[in-house]
Amino acid sequence: MQIGIIGAGHIGGTLARLFANAGHDVAVSNSRGPDTLASLVASIGGNVHAETPEGAVKFGDVIVLGMPWRRIDELPPAEGFAGKVVIDAMNPYSATGHVIDLGDRTSSEEVAKRMPKARLVKAFNTIYWKTLETGSRLQGPMEDRQAIFLAADDPEATAVVAKLIEQIGFAPVHTGSLREGGRRQRPNSSLYGRPMTARQARDLLR
Ligand SMILES: NC(=O)c1ccc[n+]([C@@H]2O[C@H](COP(=O)([O-])OP(=O)(O)OC[C@H]3O[C@@H](n4cnc5c(N)ncnc54)[C@H](OP(=O)(O)O)[C@@H]3O)[C@@H](O)[C@H]2O)c1
Repeated sequence: MQIGIIGAGHIGGTLARLFANAGHDVAVSNSRGPDTLASLVASIGGNVHAETPEGAVKFGDVIVLGMPWRRIDELPPAEGFAGKVVIDAMNPYSATGHVIDLGDRTSSEEVAKRMPKARLVKAFNTIYWKTLETGSRLQGPMEDRQAIFLAADDPEATAVVAKLIEQIGFAPVHTGSLREGGRRQRPNSSLYGRPMTARQARDLLR
């Protein structure tokens, strides 16, 4: 697949490496411009290149949002995301590191409002980037792999993201709809930031 990533830091950069190693073509982007991504691109190698955020959206069949949630007003125009599978890996932290109080709403619902025609899947937001970097296992039973949670309303988009998760050596675990699953995946929830196998994750969700 062609995967466009917005945000090339801990989470975006780690995903770029994992997706490229799994054989996908990846475009990474940040706020400062493609030139500032030369060392990341060189360290990953072959099938990754740097783009502007607009270029990454255009390039991707799948787009990953891996930038600070508090800056979503700076995302490229909504039309570019229409019909595409968009993975929201973001969490709603303030610049000082506090969880932003959204009341009854979830951060992904706010993202969905900004790109109503995107096929949004909330995933990768509960896993610490170091666990993502080091926890990949391509051998052995799926239930013994590290879980990556995903929430979405679109079954086809969910299947696309679940397959990507499997290809990079983790196990997809569904938490429910964007609203209800998104709530389960919120910062400070029982799933958040706790490494666990798929088996342990399913026990916890039951
Ligand atoms: N760190 C984790 O373990 C972890 C785990 C799961 C989810 N997350 C979530 O993932 C997101 C990124 O976290 P991180 O730890 O990877 O942060 P990070 O290391 O600080 O990286 C943030 C990236 O976003 C880019 N960015 C900022 N504003 C942008 C904009 N307007 N347009 C395009 N790119 C922009 C930055 O580019 P510049 O440097 O050029 O500004 C940088 O590449 C957050 O929402 C966080 O909650 C983090």
